Amino acid sequence: MKVLVTGGTGYIGSHVVVKLLLAGHEPIIIDNLSNSEKTVLDRIFEISGTRPIFYEGDVRDVDFLEDVFEQEPDIVGIIHFAAFKAVGESVKEPLKYYDNNIDGILTVLEVSQRHNVENFVFSSSATVYGNPDKNPIPETALVKSSTNPYGETKAIAEKILKALVVSGANIKTIALRYFNPIGAHPSGLIGELPKGAPENLVPYITQTAIGIRDMLFVFGDDYNTIDGTGVRDYIHVEDLADAHIKTLDFLQKNKNKSFYDVYNVGTGNGTSVMELIKTFEKISGVTIPFEIAKRRSGDIASCYADATKIKRDMNWESKKTIEEALEDSWRWQQNYLK
Ligand code: NAD
Ligand code: UFG
Repeated sequence: MKVLVTGGTGYIGSHVVVKLLLAGHEPIIIDNLSNSEKTVLDRIFEISGTRPIFYEGDVRDVDFLEDVFEQEPDIVGIIHFAAFKAVGESVKEPLKYYDNNIDGILTVLEVSQRHNVENFVFSSSATVYGNPDKNPIPETALVKSSTNPYGETKAIAEKILKALVVSGANIKTIALRYFNPIGAHPSGLIGELPKGAPENLVPYITQTAIGIRDMLFVFGDDYNTIDGTGVRDYIHVEDLADAHIKTLDFLQKNKNKSFYDVYNVGTGNGTSVMELIKTFEKISGVTIPFEIAKRRSGDIASCYADATKIKRDMNWESKKTIEEALEDSWRWQQNYLK
Protein backbone atom coordinates (compact mmCIF):
# COMPACT_ATOMS: atom_id res chain seq x y z
CA MET A 1 0.00 0.00 0.00
CA LYS A 2 1.26 3.45 -0.91
CA VAL A 3 1.14 5.55 2.27
CA LEU A 4 1.84 9.25 2.60
CA VAL A 5 3.70 9.89 5.85
CA THR A 6 3.78 13.57 6.77
CA GLY A 7 6.52 14.30 9.30
CA GLY A 8 8.11 11.01 8.29
CA THR A 9 11.69 11.97 9.13
CA GLY A 10 10.67 12.87 12.70
CA TYR A 11 10.99 10.75 15.83
CA ILE A 12 7.83 8.63 15.60
CA GLY A 13 7.44 8.97 11.83
CA SER A 14 10.88 7.50 11.08
CA HIS A 15 10.12 4.40 13.17
CA VAL A 16 6.80 3.99 11.40
CA VAL A 17 8.46 4.36 7.97
CA VAL A 18 10.86 1.52 8.85
CA LYS A 19 7.92 -0.69 9.90
CA LEU A 20 5.99 0.19 6.74
CA LEU A 21 8.96 -0.74 4.55
CA LEU A 22 9.54 -3.99 6.39
CA ALA A 23 5.83 -4.85 6.06
CA GLY A 24 6.05 -4.38 2.28
CA HIS A 25 4.25 -1.02 2.10
CA GLU A 26 5.48 1.94 0.10
CA PRO A 27 5.85 5.01 2.34
CA ILE A 28 6.09 8.43 0.71
CA ILE A 29 7.59 10.92 3.17
CA ILE A 30 6.80 14.61 3.28
CA ASP A 31 8.75 16.70 5.76
CA ASN A 32 9.99 20.30 5.87
CA LEU A 33 12.87 19.27 8.16
CA SER A 34 11.86 21.89 10.74
CA ASN A 35 12.51 19.35 13.50
CA SER A 36 14.43 16.55 11.82
CA GLU A 37 17.39 15.90 9.55
CA LYS A 38 17.77 14.49 6.07
CA THR A 39 20.35 11.95 7.33
CA VAL A 40 17.41 10.08 8.87
CA LEU A 41 16.71 8.83 5.33
CA ASP A 42 20.18 7.20 5.20
CA ARG A 43 19.55 5.60 8.57
CA ILE A 44 16.17 4.27 7.46
CA PHE A 45 17.94 2.78 4.44
CA GLU A 46 20.61 1.23 6.67
CA ILE A 47 17.96 -0.45 8.82
CA SER A 48 15.45 -1.51 6.18
CA GLY A 49 17.52 -1.88 3.01
CA THR A 50 15.13 0.44 1.15
CA ARG A 51 15.33 4.19 0.62
CA PRO A 52 11.90 5.73 1.07
CA ILE A 53 10.64 8.31 -1.41
CA PHE A 54 11.06 11.77 0.12
CA TYR A 55 9.57 15.16 -0.74
CA GLU A 56 10.95 18.12 1.18
CA GLY A 57 8.23 20.68 1.76
CA ASP A 58 5.57 22.08 4.03
CA VAL A 59 2.20 20.43 4.56
CA ARG A 60 0.57 23.87 4.60
CA ASP A 61 1.70 24.49 1.01
CA VAL A 62 -1.24 23.51 -1.25
CA ASP A 63 0.77 23.67 -4.49
CA PHE A 64 3.50 21.50 -3.05
CA LEU A 65 0.97 18.90 -1.85
CA GLU A 66 -0.84 18.93 -5.20
CA ASP A 67 2.49 18.31 -6.87
CA VAL A 68 3.22 15.33 -4.60
CA PHE A 69 -0.22 13.80 -5.29
CA GLU A 70 0.28 14.28 -9.01
CA GLN A 71 3.62 12.49 -8.88
CA GLU A 72 2.27 9.76 -6.58
CA PRO A 73 -1.18 9.05 -8.03
CA ASP A 74 -2.16 5.95 -6.06
CA ILE A 75 -1.76 6.97 -2.44
CA VAL A 76 -4.19 4.85 -0.45
CA GLY A 77 -3.60 6.12 3.07
CA ILE A 78 -2.10 9.00 5.04
CA ILE A 79 -0.44 9.04 8.43
CA HIS A 80 -0.32 12.65 9.54
CA PHE A 81 2.53 13.23 12.02
CA ALA A 82 3.70 16.68 10.87
CA ALA A 83 3.16 19.14 13.71
CA PHE A 84 5.01 21.06 16.39
CA LYS A 85 4.95 19.30 19.74
CA ALA A 86 6.68 21.26 22.50
CA VAL A 87 4.11 22.11 25.18
CA GLY A 88 6.18 24.91 26.79
CA GLU A 89 6.97 26.55 23.45
CA SER A 90 3.29 26.44 22.51
CA VAL A 91 2.44 28.58 25.55
CA LYS A 92 5.04 31.18 24.50
CA GLU A 93 4.28 31.07 20.76
CA PRO A 94 0.61 30.05 20.41
CA LEU A 95 0.14 31.44 16.89
CA LYS A 96 3.01 29.33 15.59
CA TYR A 97 1.32 26.20 17.00
CA TYR A 98 -2.21 26.95 15.81
CA ASP A 99 -0.85 27.85 12.39
CA ASN A 100 1.29 24.76 11.88
CA ASN A 101 -0.86 22.16 13.58
CA ILE A 102 -4.29 23.34 12.42
CA ASP A 103 -3.48 24.75 8.99
CA GLY A 104 -1.33 21.62 8.47
CA ILE A 105 -4.13 19.10 8.97
CA LEU A 106 -6.68 21.26 7.13
CA THR A 107 -4.46 21.52 4.06
CA VAL A 108 -3.59 17.82 4.02
CA LEU A 109 -7.28 16.91 4.30
CA GLU A 110 -8.36 19.42 1.66
CA VAL A 111 -5.84 18.24 -0.92
CA SER A 112 -6.16 14.53 -0.12
CA GLN A 113 -9.96 14.78 -0.46
CA ARG A 114 -9.46 16.08 -3.99
CA HIS A 115 -7.35 12.98 -4.65
CA ASN A 116 -9.83 10.57 -3.04
CA VAL A 117 -7.58 9.24 -0.30
CA GLU A 118 -9.80 7.09 1.88
CA ASN A 119 -7.69 6.19 4.92
CA PHE A 120 -6.35 8.71 7.40
CA VAL A 121 -4.46 8.19 10.66
CA PHE A 122 -3.90 11.18 12.92
CA SER A 123 -1.29 11.57 15.69
CA SER A 124 -3.28 12.73 18.66
CA SER A 125 -2.27 12.72 22.28
CA ALA A 126 -3.40 11.71 25.75
CA THR A 127 -3.09 15.40 26.49
CA VAL A 128 -6.69 15.76 25.22
CA TYR A 129 -7.87 14.11 28.47
CA GLY A 130 -6.44 17.00 30.50
CA ASN A 131 -6.50 16.08 34.18
CA PRO A 132 -8.49 12.84 33.93
CA ASP A 133 -11.22 11.92 36.39
CA LYS A 134 -9.85 8.37 36.65
CA ASN A 135 -6.97 6.12 35.62
CA PRO A 136 -6.60 4.02 33.54
CA ILE A 137 -8.24 6.41 31.06
CA PRO A 138 -10.75 4.93 28.60
CA GLU A 139 -11.43 6.58 25.22
CA THR A 140 -14.88 7.49 26.51
CA ALA A 141 -13.36 9.89 29.06
CA LEU A 142 -14.15 13.56 28.57
CA VAL A 143 -11.93 15.57 26.24
CA LYS A 144 -11.08 18.52 28.44
CA SER A 145 -9.94 21.96 27.56
CA SER A 146 -6.15 21.96 27.63
CA THR A 147 -3.86 24.16 29.69
CA ASN A 148 -1.70 24.77 26.61
CA PRO A 149 -2.16 25.61 22.91
CA TYR A 150 -0.40 22.41 21.79
CA GLY A 151 -3.03 20.28 23.55
CA GLU A 152 -5.79 22.46 22.11
CA THR A 153 -4.52 21.89 18.57
CA LYS A 154 -4.87 18.12 19.08
CA ALA A 155 -8.44 18.42 20.41
CA ILE A 156 -9.39 20.78 17.55
CA ALA A 157 -7.84 18.47 14.94
CA GLU A 158 -9.90 15.58 16.30
CA LYS A 159 -13.04 17.72 15.94
CA ILE A 160 -12.09 18.59 12.35
CA LEU A 161 -11.83 14.89 11.47
CA LYS A 162 -15.15 14.13 13.14
CA ALA A 163 -16.89 16.99 11.32
CA LEU A 164 -15.49 15.86 7.99
CA VAL A 165 -16.91 12.38 8.52
CA VAL A 166 -20.26 13.78 9.70
CA SER A 167 -20.37 15.80 6.47
CA GLY A 168 -20.46 12.51 4.57
CA ALA A 169 -16.95 12.71 3.16
CA ASN A 170 -15.61 9.48 1.77
CA ILE A 171 -12.91 9.02 4.40
CA LYS A 172 -12.11 6.55 7.18
CA THR A 173 -10.19 8.24 9.98
CA ILE A 174 -8.66 7.18 13.26
CA ALA A 175 -7.06 9.45 15.83
CA LEU A 176 -4.46 7.59 17.84
CA ARG A 177 -4.02 9.11 21.28
CA TYR A 178 -0.42 8.42 22.20
CA PHE A 179 0.60 8.29 25.82
CA ASN A 180 4.34 8.90 26.48
CA PRO A 181 6.54 7.59 23.65
CA ILE A 182 10.12 6.79 24.66
CA GLY A 183 12.97 4.61 23.39
CA ALA A 184 14.63 4.39 20.01
CA HIS A 185 15.28 1.82 17.32
CA PRO A 186 17.36 -1.04 18.86
CA SER A 187 20.04 -0.43 16.19
CA GLY A 188 20.67 2.97 17.77
CA LEU A 189 20.37 4.51 14.29
CA ILE A 190 17.14 6.50 14.71
CA GLY A 191 15.60 8.14 17.75
CA GLU A 192 14.37 11.44 19.12
CA LEU A 193 16.33 14.62 18.31
CA PRO A 194 15.51 17.12 21.05
CA LYS A 195 16.35 20.73 20.23
CA GLY A 196 17.97 22.60 23.13
CA ALA A 197 17.05 21.55 26.65
CA PRO A 198 14.53 18.71 26.46
CA GLU A 199 11.09 19.19 28.01
CA ASN A 200 10.50 15.46 28.29
CA LEU A 201 11.77 13.27 31.07
CA VAL A 202 13.66 10.51 29.25
CA PRO A 203 15.83 12.73 27.00
CA TYR A 204 16.56 14.86 30.07
CA ILE A 205 17.68 11.75 31.97
CA THR A 206 19.92 10.50 29.14
CA GLN A 207 21.44 13.98 28.63
CA THR A 208 22.14 14.19 32.37
CA ALA A 209 23.66 10.70 32.31
CA ILE A 210 26.04 11.64 29.50
CA GLY A 211 26.99 14.94 31.14
CA ILE A 212 25.23 17.47 28.88
CA ARG A 213 23.03 18.51 31.84
CA ASP A 214 24.32 18.87 35.41
CA MET A 215 21.28 17.42 37.07
CA LEU A 216 17.68 16.41 36.63
CA PHE A 217 14.90 18.36 38.31
CA VAL A 218 12.05 16.16 39.50
CA PHE A 219 8.95 18.32 39.17
CA GLY A 220 7.16 17.69 42.45
CA ASP A 221 7.16 14.84 44.97
CA ASP A 222 3.88 15.68 46.66
CA TYR A 223 1.39 14.22 44.16
CA ASN A 224 -1.09 11.60 45.27
CA THR A 225 0.89 8.77 43.64
CA ILE A 226 2.94 5.76 44.73
CA ASP A 227 5.97 7.90 45.73
CA GLY A 228 4.65 11.44 45.23
CA THR A 229 6.17 11.91 41.76
CA GLY A 230 4.20 12.09 38.49
CA VAL A 231 2.98 8.83 36.96
CA ARG A 232 2.84 8.31 33.17
CA ASP A 233 2.34 5.52 30.65
CA TYR A 234 5.70 5.20 28.87
CA ILE A 235 5.41 3.31 25.60
CA HIS A 236 8.29 2.09 23.43
CA VAL A 237 8.30 3.94 20.09
CA GLU A 238 8.67 0.58 18.31
CA ASP A 239 5.40 -0.65 19.83
CA LEU A 240 3.79 2.66 18.97
CA ALA A 241 5.00 2.26 15.39
CA ASP A 242 3.45 -1.22 15.21
CA ALA A 243 0.12 0.27 16.29
CA HIS A 244 0.15 2.44 13.13
CA ILE A 245 0.62 -0.57 10.86
CA LYS A 246 -2.27 -2.34 12.61
CA THR A 247 -4.40 0.79 12.31
CA LEU A 248 -3.80 1.04 8.56
CA ASP A 249 -4.71 -2.63 8.12
CA PHE A 250 -7.82 -2.13 10.24
CA LEU A 251 -8.89 0.90 8.20
CA GLN A 252 -8.38 -0.88 4.91
CA LYS A 253 -10.36 -3.94 5.97
CA ASN A 254 -13.22 -1.83 7.33
CA LYS A 255 -16.13 -1.93 4.92
CA ASN A 256 -17.67 1.38 6.03
CA LYS A 257 -17.09 4.16 3.51
CA SER A 258 -16.85 6.80 6.17
CA PHE A 259 -16.08 6.73 9.86
CA TYR A 260 -14.16 8.39 12.66
CA ASP A 261 -12.87 6.72 15.81
CA VAL A 262 -10.27 7.22 18.53
CA TYR A 263 -7.89 4.74 20.12
CA ASN A 264 -5.53 5.02 23.06
CA VAL A 265 -2.02 3.78 22.40
CA GLY A 266 -0.37 3.03 25.71
CA THR A 267 0.81 0.09 27.78
CA GLY A 268 -1.92 0.36 30.41
CA ASN A 269 0.70 0.70 33.15
CA GLY A 270 1.80 3.77 35.07
CA THR A 271 5.42 4.44 36.07
CA SER A 272 6.52 7.23 38.41
CA VAL A 273 9.41 9.62 37.75
CA MET A 274 11.41 8.06 40.60
CA GLU A 275 10.74 4.54 39.33
CA LEU A 276 11.94 5.57 35.88
CA ILE A 277 15.14 7.14 37.26
CA LYS A 278 15.90 4.02 39.32
CA THR A 279 15.30 1.72 36.34
CA PHE A 280 17.54 3.88 34.15
CA GLU A 281 20.32 3.77 36.79
CA LYS A 282 20.02 -0.03 36.94
CA ILE A 283 20.26 -0.61 33.19
CA SER A 284 22.95 2.03 32.49
CA GLY A 285 25.05 1.74 35.63
CA VAL A 286 25.07 5.57 35.76
CA THR A 287 23.83 7.48 38.81
CA ILE A 288 21.54 10.37 37.93
CA PRO A 289 22.06 13.45 40.09
CA PHE A 290 18.63 14.91 40.79
CA GLU A 291 16.91 17.50 42.90
CA ILE A 292 13.26 17.73 43.87
CA ALA A 293 11.88 20.94 42.35
CA LYS A 294 8.44 22.51 42.51
CA ARG A 295 5.61 21.14 40.40
CA ARG A 296 5.69 22.13 36.72
CA SER A 297 2.74 24.31 35.81
CA GLY A 298 0.03 22.37 33.93
CA ASP A 299 1.31 18.94 35.05
CA ILE A 300 -1.04 16.32 36.42
CA ALA A 301 -0.46 13.54 38.96
CA SER A 302 -1.24 10.48 36.88
CA CYS A 303 -2.04 9.60 33.29
CA TYR A 304 -2.12 6.04 31.97
CA ALA A 305 -4.14 4.31 29.33
CA ASP A 306 -6.97 1.88 29.31
CA ALA A 307 -5.56 0.10 26.25
CA THR A 308 -8.26 -2.57 25.92
CA LYS A 309 -10.08 -1.06 22.92
CA ILE A 310 -7.11 -1.25 20.52
CA LYS A 311 -6.36 -4.78 21.73
CA ARG A 312 -9.98 -5.82 21.16
CA ASP A 313 -10.38 -4.23 17.70
CA MET A 314 -6.90 -4.48 16.21
CA ASN A 315 -5.18 -7.11 18.33
CA TRP A 316 -2.45 -4.63 19.20
CA GLU A 317 -0.78 -4.47 22.58
CA SER A 318 2.57 -3.19 23.75
CA LYS A 319 5.29 -5.82 23.99
CA LYS A 320 8.45 -4.03 25.05
CA THR A 321 9.39 -3.27 28.64
CA ILE A 322 10.46 0.03 30.18
CA GLU A 323 13.93 -1.54 30.60
CA GLU A 324 14.18 -2.21 26.86
CA ALA A 325 12.96 1.30 26.05
CA LEU A 326 15.51 2.91 28.37
CA GLU A 327 18.33 0.70 27.05
CA ASP A 328 17.44 1.83 23.51
CA SER A 329 17.20 5.51 24.51
CA TRP A 330 20.58 5.24 26.23
CA ARG A 331 22.20 3.56 23.21
CA TRP A 332 20.80 6.29 20.96
CA GLN A 333 22.10 9.01 23.28
CA GLN A 334 25.57 7.46 23.44
CA ASN A 335 25.83 6.77 19.71
CA TYR A 336 24.32 9.83 18.10
CA LEU A 337 23.52 12.63 20.48
CA LYS A 338 26.93 13.46 21.99
P1 NAD B 1 8.94 15.25 15.62
O1 NAD B 1 9.07 16.72 15.79
O2 NAD B 1 10.13 14.40 15.83
O3 NAD B 1 8.35 14.92 14.17
C1 NAD B 1 7.48 15.77 13.50
C2 NAD B 1 8.02 15.95 12.09
O4 NAD B 1 7.15 16.82 11.37
C3 NAD B 1 9.39 16.61 12.06
O5 NAD B 1 10.25 15.85 11.23
C4 NAD B 1 9.15 18.00 11.46
O6 NAD B 1 10.24 18.45 10.70
C5 NAD B 1 7.91 17.76 10.62
N1 NAD B 1 7.05 18.93 10.44
C6 NAD B 1 6.56 19.78 11.37
N2 NAD B 1 5.80 20.71 10.79
C7 NAD B 1 5.78 20.44 9.46
C8 NAD B 1 5.17 21.04 8.35
N3 NAD B 1 4.40 22.14 8.47
N4 NAD B 1 5.36 20.50 7.12
C9 NAD B 1 6.13 19.40 6.97
N5 NAD B 1 6.75 18.79 7.99
C10 NAD B 1 6.57 19.31 9.23
O7 NAD B 1 7.73 14.78 16.58
P2 NAD B 1 7.27 13.32 16.98
O8 NAD B 1 7.59 13.10 18.41
O9 NAD B 1 7.71 12.34 15.97
O10 NAD B 1 5.69 13.52 16.92
C11 NAD B 1 4.94 13.16 15.76
C12 NAD B 1 3.49 13.47 16.01
O11 NAD B 1 3.03 12.79 17.18
C13 NAD B 1 3.20 14.96 16.25
O12 NAD B 1 1.98 15.28 15.64
C14 NAD B 1 3.09 15.03 17.76
O13 NAD B 1 2.29 16.11 18.17
C15 NAD B 1 2.43 13.71 18.06
N6 NAD B 1 2.66 13.26 19.46
C16 NAD B 1 3.93 13.14 19.92
C17 NAD B 1 4.15 12.76 21.24
C18 NAD B 1 5.55 12.65 21.78
O14 NAD B 1 5.70 12.66 23.01
N7 NAD B 1 6.58 12.53 20.95
C19 NAD B 1 3.06 12.48 22.09
C20 NAD B 1 1.77 12.59 21.57
C21 NAD B 1 1.57 12.98 20.25
N1 UFG C 1 9.45 15.49 34.55
C1 UFG C 1 10.38 15.81 35.52
N2 UFG C 1 11.51 16.45 35.12
C2 UFG C 1 11.76 16.78 33.82
C3 UFG C 1 10.80 16.45 32.84
C4 UFG C 1 9.64 15.80 33.24
O1 UFG C 1 10.18 15.52 36.70
O2 UFG C 1 12.81 17.37 33.54
C5 UFG C 1 8.23 14.76 34.94
C6 UFG C 1 6.92 15.48 34.67
O3 UFG C 1 6.60 16.33 35.73
C7 UFG C 1 5.96 14.32 34.48
C8 UFG C 1 6.84 13.22 33.86
O4 UFG C 1 8.17 13.57 34.17
O5 UFG C 1 5.50 13.86 35.72
C9 UFG C 1 6.69 13.12 32.35
O6 UFG C 1 6.92 14.39 31.77
P1 UFG C 1 7.12 14.60 30.20
O7 UFG C 1 7.38 16.04 29.97
O8 UFG C 1 8.14 13.63 29.70
O9 UFG C 1 5.74 14.14 29.58
P2 UFG C 1 4.27 14.71 29.82
O10 UFG C 1 3.44 13.58 30.33
O11 UFG C 1 4.27 15.96 30.59
O12 UFG C 1 3.85 15.08 28.33
C10 UFG C 1 4.04 14.18 27.25
C11 UFG C 1 4.27 14.95 25.95
C12 UFG C 1 3.02 15.68 25.57
C13 UFG C 1 1.86 14.71 25.52
C14 UFG C 1 1.72 13.99 26.83
C15 UFG C 1 0.61 12.97 26.81
O13 UFG C 1 5.31 15.88 26.10
O14 UFG C 1 3.18 16.23 24.30
O15 UFG C 1 2.94 13.33 27.14
O16 UFG C 1 0.81 12.11 25.75
F1 UFG C 1 0.74 15.41 25.27
